[in-house]
Amino acid sequence: MAIRFAIFILILAVALLVLPRLFARRVPPFQAPAPPQEWWQRAVFYEVYPRSFADSNDNGIGDIPGITSRLDYLHSLGVDAVWITPCFPSPQVDFGYDVSDYENIDPMYGSLADMDLLIAEAKKRDMRIILDFVMNHTSDQHPWFLDSRSSRTAAKRDWYIWRDGKGPGQPPNNWTSVFGGSAWQYDPATGQYYYHYFYPQQPDLNWRNPAVKKAMFDSVRFWYERGISGFRLDAVDTLFEDPNLTDNPVLPGTNKFGDPKTEEKYNAKLPEVHDILRELRALSDQYHAVLIGETWTKTIEELKAYYGLHDNELQMPMDFLFTTVPKLSATDFRTQISGVNSAGWPVYVVSNHDIVRSYTRWGDGVHNDQIAKLIAAMYLTLRGTPILYYGEEIGMKNTDPTLKDEVKDPIGRRGWPLEKGRDGERTPMQWSDAPNAGFSSVAPWLPVPPTYKTYNVETELKDPASILNFYKGVLALRRTQPALRDGAWIAVNENDPNVLAYLRRSGDQTILVALNMSDAPQAIRLKLGPQGLSSARPTTLLTTLSTPPDTVSGKVHLEPFGVWIARLDK
Ligand code: NOJ
Repeated sequence: MAIRFAIFILILAVALLVLPRLFARRVPPFQAPAPPQEWWQRAVFYEVYPRSFADSNDNGIGDIPGITSRLDYLHSLGVDAVWITPCFPSPQVDFGYDVSDYENIDPMYGSLADMDLLIAEAKKRDMRIILDFVMNHTSDQHPWFLDSRSSRTAAKRDWYIWRDGKGPGQPPNNWTSVFGGSAWQYDPATGQYYYHYFYPQQPDLNWRNPAVKKAMFDSVRFWYERGISGFRLDAVDTLFEDPNLTDNPVLPGTNKFGDPKTEEKYNAKLPEVHDILRELRALSDQYHAVLIGETWTKTIEELKAYYGLHDNELQMPMDFLFTTVPKLSATDFRTQISGVNSAGWPVYVVSNHDIVRSYTRWGDGVHNDQIAKLIAAMYLTLRGTPILYYGEEIGMKNTDPTLKDEVKDPIGRRGWPLEKGRDGERTPMQWSDAPNAGFSSVAPWLPVPPTYKTYNVETELKDPASILNFYKGVLALRRTQPALRDGAWIAVNENDPNVLAYLRRSGDQTILVALNMSDAPQAIRLKLGPQGLSSARPTTLLTTLSTPPDTVSGKVHLEPFGVWIARLDK
């Protein structure tokens, strides 16, 4: 009996000593990724639509001195780099995306001296300025195009894409403009058609002509020499076209403009694009500048191609797939995030001057403010670089025109009512509850919605529970918590359809982010065992929950659309 008891005690002792070690060995030691080193990986970017940001001369249109006057605001928000959409001389058919001089500032927005001052003032605050490079096309008023269209033998004829029609009144092929109608415009002066992927006032440049590349690269250098820290590259997908002008395959149905749908097989994403991007990258590297891509991709594989085979193309191709998640869905966001993480350094945007504001797109009409905070908590705590669109931080909503006559964006007039254009996401920044939201003392070029009385910078700064203060809180965490800026992204509870939960983990710090993407309370058991963290103690860093959990081992309760960000200590 005594012997049996002794054997039992022995087995028990062995089990108690050995088993936990065996078990512990199953948790692989965490391998911290190398912290990102480049300035643009550590920066928070902010997109300014200059017409709508701040009006310094009270003419109803924003301008460069207006942006300069708001640098302190952006700095205190936690912004490191400001991308300004085109502010170059332009007839403004596409509100600046029709450039008539790449090396100047439109007088409507100020002068070169104003831009120099903006760059200098930004630098004083350790901030950088990024400009927009409209590569695919110029304005039809650019001197290059004026020369090109003047005769078939003009010096710059081959700077654009001119072709004979297929027959009288018939364009060279079936390519359509993304802004409606044929992509070919007949020019009676020389009896040929020119190609325009966007408006007819935006003829496509011929990037197969080395003189075009040289002139455009010269302008890039011009701005780098003035102190610009990079470019957002407009419409990179469509720089090249099939020289044989092969018809695109026709798909069933029509688009918003009533044109037959086609697959853009021969006029988008041609391999030659990558040759140009590699050369532009080599030039930009000389200035430690960043290239951000307007990269509309249908798959992660397509997005991956834009980083370049040897990471020698775009440092920051924007992941628009993220914005296509149709409704708040933990499953869909998880898939998107892990996809882009496998492609390269992720670049997150939630809306921009072409995309309906996230407040409107993902809001459910009841909990929009909570949802705005939840979205902020997500895209500002992911591994990657976020680009905030102006006004997202105060919960600006889309304000679409209600009458066709009010529409400013030409595609809204052409496609009304199916396509209302992009005015709704471009309304003036709401600075205060003063008339015109403090943007201007006269009526601004686009109306501000009545909700500006509550949703504005001045009012929200005073309210600790505002969307703006929430943004400031998350951005401050991002700056001060190494794991949030540098750490790996690790999904937890990967099958949960309602709660998006993940860890950000660096060598010696782990942060948990749990986001309830549903309108119902959720009680979840966090599966942190595989990370060796099941008994970790949480310290709440930021939350919207009325009662933040004090443990991760039991059930964690999250209110509808609740956000919980906590540091986990072993
Ligand atoms: C993309 C820009 O974001 C959009 O606003 C513009 O209309 C087109 N490119 C054409 O430049």
